[in-house]
Amino acid sequence: MIEAILNELEALKHKFDEQIVAVNSANAVEALRIQYLARKGEFPQYFKKLGEVPAEVRPQLGQKLNELRDYLEAALNAKKELFGQVTRGPKVDLTLSGIPRRLGTRHPLLKTLDEIKSIFIAMGFSVESGPLAENDYYNFEALNIPRNHPSRDMQDTLYLSDPMREEGETYLLRTHTSPVQVRTMLKQKPPIRIIAPGRVFRKDNLDATHSPVFHQIEGLYVDEGVTMGDLKGVLLAYARKLLGRDIKVRFRPSYFPFTEPSAELDVWFPAKNRWMELLGCGMVNPAVFDMLGIDSEKYTGFAFGMGIERVAMTKYAIDDIRYFYDNDVRFLQQF
Ligand code: PHE
Repeated sequence: MIEAILNELEALKHKFDEQIVAVNSANAVEALRIQYLARKGEFPQYFKKLGEVPAEVRPQLGQKLNELRDYLEAALNAKKELFGQVTRGPKVDLTLSGIPRRLGTRHPLLKTLDEIKSIFIAMGFSVESGPLAENDYYNFEALNIPRNHPSRDMQDTLYLSDPMREEGETYLLRTHTSPVQVRTMLKQKPPIRIIAPGRVFRKDNLDATHSPVFHQIEGLYVDEGVTMGDLKGVLLAYARKLLGRDIKVRFRPSYFPFTEPSAELDVWFPAKNRWMELLGCGMVNPAVFDMLGIDSEKYTGFAFGMGIERVAMTKYAIDDIRYFYDNDVRFLQQF
Protein backbone atom coordinates (compact mmCIF):
# COMPACT_ATOMS: atom_id res chain seq x y z
CA MET A 1 0.00 0.00 0.00
CA ILE A 2 2.78 2.43 0.90
CA GLU A 3 4.47 1.57 -2.41
CA ALA A 4 1.35 2.56 -4.34
CA ILE A 5 1.13 5.87 -2.50
CA LEU A 6 4.78 6.66 -3.07
CA ASN A 7 4.36 5.91 -6.76
CA GLU A 8 1.38 8.20 -6.94
CA LEU A 9 3.37 10.97 -5.29
CA GLU A 10 6.17 10.42 -7.75
CA ALA A 11 3.72 10.69 -10.65
CA LEU A 12 2.21 13.82 -9.13
CA LYS A 13 5.63 15.41 -8.85
CA HIS A 14 6.38 14.46 -12.43
CA LYS A 15 3.15 16.00 -13.69
CA PHE A 16 3.86 19.14 -11.64
CA ASP A 17 7.34 19.43 -13.14
CA GLU A 18 5.95 19.29 -16.64
CA GLN A 19 3.38 21.92 -15.88
CA ILE A 20 5.61 24.38 -14.08
CA VAL A 21 8.11 24.68 -16.93
CA ALA A 22 5.25 25.85 -19.16
CA VAL A 23 4.21 28.58 -16.69
CA ASN A 24 4.71 32.07 -18.15
CA SER A 25 2.75 34.51 -16.00
CA ALA A 26 1.93 35.35 -12.42
CA ASN A 27 -1.62 34.25 -13.04
CA ALA A 28 -0.46 30.85 -14.29
CA VAL A 29 1.72 30.41 -11.17
CA GLU A 30 -1.31 31.13 -9.02
CA ALA A 31 -3.45 28.69 -11.01
CA LEU A 32 -0.87 25.95 -10.48
CA ARG A 33 -0.64 26.69 -6.76
CA ILE A 34 -4.37 26.32 -6.47
CA GLN A 35 -4.35 23.09 -8.48
CA TYR A 36 -1.75 21.45 -6.19
CA LEU A 37 -1.67 23.15 -2.83
CA ALA A 38 -5.11 24.66 -2.15
CA ARG A 39 -7.14 22.96 0.52
CA LYS A 40 -8.97 20.89 -2.06
CA GLY A 41 -5.98 20.67 -4.38
CA GLU A 42 -4.30 17.46 -5.56
CA PHE A 43 -1.57 17.32 -2.92
CA PRO A 44 -3.06 17.92 0.58
CA GLN A 45 -5.36 14.89 0.34
CA TYR A 46 -2.27 12.67 0.72
CA PHE A 47 -1.83 13.87 4.28
CA LYS A 48 -5.09 12.06 5.08
CA LYS A 49 -3.41 8.84 4.01
CA LEU A 50 -1.03 9.14 7.00
CA GLY A 51 -3.84 7.88 9.19
CA GLU A 52 -4.55 4.95 6.90
CA VAL A 53 -1.06 3.46 6.57
CA PRO A 54 0.51 1.10 9.13
CA ALA A 55 2.27 2.89 11.94
CA GLU A 56 5.73 1.61 11.03
CA VAL A 57 5.73 3.28 7.57
CA ARG A 58 4.04 6.42 8.77
CA PRO A 59 7.32 8.35 9.41
CA GLN A 60 8.58 7.40 5.97
CA LEU A 61 5.42 8.70 4.31
CA GLY A 62 5.39 11.78 6.50
CA GLN A 63 8.90 12.67 5.52
CA LYS A 64 8.12 12.12 1.85
CA LEU A 65 5.07 14.35 2.08
CA ASN A 66 6.97 17.14 3.80
CA GLU A 67 9.72 16.97 1.22
CA LEU A 68 7.28 17.10 -1.62
CA ARG A 69 5.35 20.00 -0.10
CA ASP A 70 8.58 21.94 0.36
CA TYR A 71 9.54 21.14 -3.19
CA LEU A 72 6.21 22.32 -4.63
CA GLU A 73 6.22 25.50 -2.59
CA ALA A 74 9.81 26.34 -3.48
CA ALA A 75 9.19 25.81 -7.19
CA LEU A 76 6.05 27.92 -7.12
CA ASN A 77 7.72 30.72 -5.10
CA ALA A 78 10.63 30.86 -7.51
CA LYS A 79 8.24 31.29 -10.44
CA LYS A 80 6.19 33.82 -8.50
CA GLU A 81 9.22 35.96 -7.96
CA LEU A 82 9.89 35.81 -11.68
CA PHE A 83 6.46 37.05 -12.72
CA GLY A 84 5.54 39.39 -9.90
CA GLN A 85 2.16 39.94 -8.34
CA VAL A 86 -1.02 38.42 -9.57
CA THR A 87 -3.17 40.94 -11.36
CA ARG A 88 -6.80 40.69 -12.23
CA GLY A 89 -7.16 41.73 -15.80
CA PRO A 90 -4.54 43.77 -17.66
CA LYS A 91 -2.63 46.23 -15.48
CA VAL A 92 -3.43 49.32 -17.54
CA ASP A 93 -6.73 49.61 -19.34
CA LEU A 94 -5.96 51.96 -22.16
CA THR A 95 -9.61 52.11 -23.17
CA LEU A 96 -10.61 53.87 -19.93
CA SER A 97 -11.46 57.53 -20.31
CA GLY A 98 -9.38 59.95 -18.24
CA ILE A 99 -10.21 61.21 -14.78
CA PRO A 100 -12.56 64.15 -15.34
CA ARG A 101 -11.08 67.34 -13.91
CA ARG A 102 -13.35 70.07 -12.62
CA LEU A 103 -12.68 73.18 -14.62
CA GLY A 104 -13.26 76.58 -13.11
CA THR A 105 -15.35 79.14 -14.92
CA ARG A 106 -15.08 82.87 -15.19
CA HIS A 107 -17.04 84.80 -12.60
CA PRO A 108 -20.34 86.03 -14.09
CA LEU A 109 -19.39 89.62 -13.27
CA LEU A 110 -16.07 89.34 -15.07
CA LYS A 111 -17.76 87.60 -17.97
CA THR A 112 -20.30 90.40 -18.23
CA LEU A 113 -17.59 93.03 -17.95
CA ASP A 114 -15.54 91.34 -20.67
CA GLU A 115 -18.53 91.32 -22.93
CA ILE A 116 -19.35 94.98 -22.32
CA LYS A 117 -15.73 95.93 -22.83
CA SER A 118 -15.40 94.05 -26.09
CA ILE A 119 -18.50 95.75 -27.51
CA PHE A 120 -17.10 99.23 -26.83
CA ILE A 121 -13.55 98.33 -27.80
CA ALA A 122 -14.91 97.19 -31.17
CA MET A 123 -16.44 100.67 -31.52
CA GLY A 124 -13.06 102.31 -30.93
CA PHE A 125 -13.10 102.97 -27.17
CA SER A 126 -10.00 102.34 -25.08
CA VAL A 127 -9.92 101.25 -21.44
CA GLU A 128 -8.87 103.61 -18.63
CA SER A 129 -8.73 103.21 -14.87
CA GLY A 130 -8.31 105.34 -11.78
CA PRO A 131 -7.88 105.15 -8.00
CA LEU A 132 -10.56 103.77 -5.68
CA ALA A 133 -9.82 106.29 -2.96
CA GLU A 134 -10.53 109.64 -4.52
CA ASN A 135 -10.28 113.23 -3.69
CA ASP A 136 -13.56 115.12 -3.37
CA TYR A 137 -12.53 117.21 -6.37
CA TYR A 138 -12.48 114.32 -8.85
CA ASN A 139 -15.51 112.51 -7.49
CA PHE A 140 -17.80 115.57 -7.10
CA GLU A 141 -16.44 119.03 -7.62
CA ALA A 142 -15.09 118.71 -11.17
CA LEU A 143 -18.27 116.92 -12.15
CA ASN A 144 -20.33 119.99 -11.39
CA ILE A 145 -21.43 118.65 -8.02
CA PRO A 146 -20.25 121.47 -5.73
CA ARG A 147 -20.16 121.17 -1.97
CA ASN A 148 -23.63 121.45 -0.49
CA HIS A 149 -25.16 120.75 -3.87
CA PRO A 150 -28.31 118.72 -3.21
CA SER A 151 -27.31 116.16 -5.81
CA ARG A 152 -24.71 114.84 -3.38
CA ASP A 153 -27.66 113.26 -1.67
CA MET A 154 -28.00 110.93 -4.63
CA GLN A 155 -24.98 109.05 -3.42
CA ASP A 156 -24.35 108.15 0.13
CA THR A 157 -20.64 108.52 0.35
CA LEU A 158 -18.06 106.65 2.43
CA TYR A 159 -15.67 109.37 3.55
CA LEU A 160 -12.12 108.56 4.60
CA SER A 161 -10.41 110.15 7.54
CA ASP A 162 -6.87 110.98 6.61
CA PRO A 163 -4.86 112.96 9.18
CA MET A 164 -2.37 113.88 6.43
CA ARG A 165 -4.92 115.52 4.23
CA GLU A 166 -4.44 119.09 3.24
CA GLU A 167 -6.68 121.79 4.55
CA GLY A 168 -10.03 121.69 2.82
CA GLU A 169 -9.39 118.37 1.08
CA THR A 170 -11.77 115.50 1.57
CA TYR A 171 -10.96 111.92 0.72
CA LEU A 172 -13.57 109.31 0.01
CA LEU A 173 -14.14 105.98 -1.67
CA ARG A 174 -15.30 106.84 -5.15
CA THR A 175 -19.06 106.60 -5.49
CA HIS A 176 -18.94 106.17 -9.26
CA THR A 177 -16.38 105.70 -12.03
CA SER A 178 -16.94 109.25 -13.29
CA PRO A 179 -13.75 110.61 -11.66
CA VAL A 180 -11.89 108.63 -14.36
CA GLN A 181 -13.61 110.90 -16.91
CA VAL A 182 -12.23 113.90 -15.07
CA ARG A 183 -8.72 112.50 -14.84
CA THR A 184 -8.73 111.60 -18.52
CA MET A 185 -9.96 115.01 -19.65
CA LEU A 186 -7.26 116.67 -17.54
CA LYS A 187 -4.43 114.74 -19.12
CA GLN A 188 -5.67 114.17 -22.66
CA LYS A 189 -6.99 116.53 -25.32
CA PRO A 190 -9.96 115.55 -27.54
CA PRO A 191 -10.71 113.37 -29.37
CA ILE A 192 -11.31 111.23 -26.29
CA ARG A 193 -13.01 107.89 -26.50
CA ILE A 194 -12.67 105.85 -23.30
CA ILE A 195 -14.43 103.37 -21.09
CA ALA A 196 -13.58 103.05 -17.41
CA PRO A 197 -14.62 99.93 -15.54
CA GLY A 198 -14.09 99.45 -11.83
CA ARG A 199 -15.23 99.07 -8.26
CA VAL A 200 -17.32 101.76 -6.61
CA PHE A 201 -18.58 102.26 -3.07
CA ARG A 202 -21.76 103.58 -1.51
CA LYS A 203 -23.08 103.58 1.98
CA ASP A 204 -25.79 101.03 1.27
CA ASN A 205 -26.74 98.03 3.35
CA LEU A 206 -26.37 94.69 1.64
CA ASP A 207 -29.70 93.36 0.45
CA ALA A 208 -31.06 91.65 -2.66
CA THR A 209 -30.52 94.72 -4.87
CA HIS A 210 -27.88 96.78 -3.04
CA SER A 211 -24.29 96.26 -2.11
CA PRO A 212 -21.92 98.76 -0.49
CA VAL A 213 -19.32 97.66 -3.06
CA PHE A 214 -20.28 97.11 -6.65
CA HIS A 215 -18.95 97.66 -10.15
CA GLN A 216 -19.60 100.26 -12.79
CA ILE A 217 -18.44 100.94 -16.27
CA GLU A 218 -18.33 104.46 -17.55
CA GLY A 219 -17.94 105.75 -21.07
CA LEU A 220 -16.87 109.12 -22.45
CA TYR A 221 -16.69 110.40 -26.00
CA VAL A 222 -15.48 113.94 -26.65
CA ASP A 223 -14.77 115.42 -30.05
CA GLU A 224 -15.92 118.15 -32.40
CA GLY A 225 -19.50 117.72 -33.50
CA VAL A 226 -20.56 114.88 -31.16
CA THR A 227 -24.35 114.94 -30.87
CA MET A 228 -27.18 113.34 -28.95
CA GLY A 229 -27.73 111.29 -32.13
CA ASP A 230 -24.26 109.77 -31.67
CA LEU A 231 -25.11 108.96 -28.07
CA LYS A 232 -28.32 107.23 -29.09
CA GLY A 233 -26.68 105.37 -31.95
CA VAL A 234 -23.79 104.06 -29.84
CA LEU A 235 -25.94 103.06 -26.88
CA LEU A 236 -28.61 101.43 -29.02
CA ALA A 237 -25.94 99.42 -30.83
CA TYR A 238 -24.54 98.44 -27.44
CA ALA A 239 -27.92 97.33 -26.03
CA ARG A 240 -28.62 95.25 -29.14
CA LYS A 241 -25.23 93.59 -29.10
CA LEU A 242 -25.62 92.81 -25.41
CA LEU A 243 -29.23 91.68 -25.23
CA GLY A 244 -30.19 90.78 -28.78
CA ARG A 245 -31.29 92.59 -31.93
CA ASP A 246 -34.97 92.55 -31.03
CA ILE A 247 -34.55 94.33 -27.71
CA LYS A 248 -36.94 97.22 -27.18
CA VAL A 249 -35.38 100.33 -25.62
CA ARG A 250 -36.42 103.80 -24.61
CA PHE A 251 -34.55 106.92 -23.57
CA ARG A 252 -36.18 108.54 -20.56
CA PRO A 253 -35.24 112.09 -19.49
CA SER A 254 -33.23 112.18 -16.28
CA TYR A 255 -30.84 114.37 -14.38
CA PHE A 256 -27.12 114.25 -13.66
CA PRO A 257 -25.17 117.41 -12.75
CA PHE A 258 -22.36 116.50 -15.15
CA THR A 259 -24.54 115.90 -18.21
CA GLU A 260 -27.11 118.13 -19.88
CA PRO A 261 -29.45 116.91 -21.20
CA SER A 262 -29.43 113.63 -19.29
CA ALA A 263 -31.31 110.41 -19.87
CA GLU A 264 -31.69 106.83 -18.69
CA LEU A 265 -31.74 104.01 -21.15
CA ASP A 266 -34.45 101.47 -20.30
CA VAL A 267 -34.92 98.06 -21.85
CA TRP A 268 -38.22 96.21 -22.06
CA PHE A 269 -38.42 92.86 -20.34
CA PRO A 270 -41.28 90.83 -21.79
CA ALA A 271 -40.81 88.09 -19.16
CA LYS A 272 -41.41 90.61 -16.38
CA ASN A 273 -43.66 92.81 -18.45
CA ARG A 274 -41.85 95.96 -17.44
CA TRP A 275 -39.08 98.42 -18.31
CA MET A 276 -35.74 98.01 -16.57
CA GLU A 277 -33.16 100.74 -16.28
CA LEU A 278 -29.90 99.76 -17.99
CA LEU A 279 -27.75 102.88 -17.78
CA GLY A 280 -27.53 106.61 -17.20
CA CYS A 281 -26.21 108.90 -19.91
CA GLY A 282 -26.18 112.41 -21.31
CA MET A 283 -24.29 115.11 -23.18
CA VAL A 284 -21.31 116.31 -21.15
CA ASN A 285 -22.30 119.51 -19.37
CA PRO A 286 -20.29 122.43 -20.85
CA ALA A 287 -19.68 123.54 -17.25
CA VAL A 288 -17.56 120.38 -16.79
CA PHE A 289 -15.52 121.17 -19.91
CA ASP A 290 -14.98 124.71 -18.68
CA MET A 291 -13.69 123.49 -15.33
CA LEU A 292 -11.26 121.07 -16.99
CA GLY A 293 -9.96 123.48 -19.60
CA ILE A 294 -11.62 121.93 -22.64
CA ASP A 295 -13.05 124.47 -25.08
CA SER A 296 -16.81 124.03 -24.72
CA GLU A 297 -17.42 126.15 -27.83
CA LYS A 298 -15.42 123.74 -29.94
CA TYR A 299 -16.08 120.37 -28.36
CA THR A 300 -19.11 118.40 -27.35
CA GLY A 301 -19.33 114.94 -25.89
CA PHE A 302 -21.46 112.29 -24.32
CA ALA A 303 -21.00 110.11 -21.28
CA PHE A 304 -22.73 107.07 -19.90
CA GLY A 305 -22.41 104.87 -16.85
CA MET A 306 -23.91 101.63 -15.68
CA GLY A 307 -23.72 99.07 -12.90
CA ILE A 308 -22.18 95.82 -14.06
CA GLU A 309 -24.10 93.81 -11.46
CA ARG A 310 -27.34 95.16 -12.85
CA VAL A 311 -26.37 94.21 -16.39
CA ALA A 312 -25.35 90.70 -15.29
CA MET A 313 -28.55 90.29 -13.25
CA THR A 314 -30.61 91.31 -16.27
CA LYS A 315 -28.70 89.19 -18.70
CA TYR A 316 -28.63 86.03 -16.60
CA ALA A 317 -31.93 86.50 -14.75
CA ILE A 318 -30.27 86.63 -11.32
CA ASP A 319 -32.57 88.04 -8.69
CA ASP A 320 -30.20 88.61 -5.78
CA ILE A 321 -26.99 90.64 -5.98
CA ARG A 322 -25.49 88.73 -3.04
CA TYR A 323 -24.95 85.64 -5.20
CA PHE A 324 -22.10 87.50 -6.91
CA TYR A 325 -20.09 87.82 -3.72
CA ASP A 326 -20.92 84.57 -1.89
CA ASN A 327 -18.64 82.55 -4.18
CA ASP A 328 -20.83 79.49 -3.82
CA VAL A 329 -19.52 77.04 -6.39
CA ARG A 330 -23.06 75.80 -7.14
CA PHE A 331 -23.88 79.31 -8.35
CA LEU A 332 -20.57 80.05 -10.08
CA GLN A 333 -20.39 76.83 -12.05
CA GLN A 334 -23.57 77.72 -13.93
CA PHE A 335 -21.67 80.28 -15.98
N1 PHE B 1 -22.06 108.43 -12.66
C1 PHE B 1 -23.46 108.16 -12.78
C2 PHE B 1 -23.91 107.30 -11.60
O1 PHE B 1 -23.10 106.73 -10.96
C3 PHE B 1 -23.78 107.43 -14.05
C4 PHE B 1 -23.56 108.29 -15.26
C5 PHE B 1 -22.33 108.33 -15.87
C6 PHE B 1 -24.56 109.06 -15.79
C7 PHE B 1 -22.12 109.12 -16.97
C8 PHE B 1 -24.39 109.81 -16.90
C9 PHE B 1 -23.17 109.87 -17.49
O2 PHE B 1 -25.07 107.20 -11.31
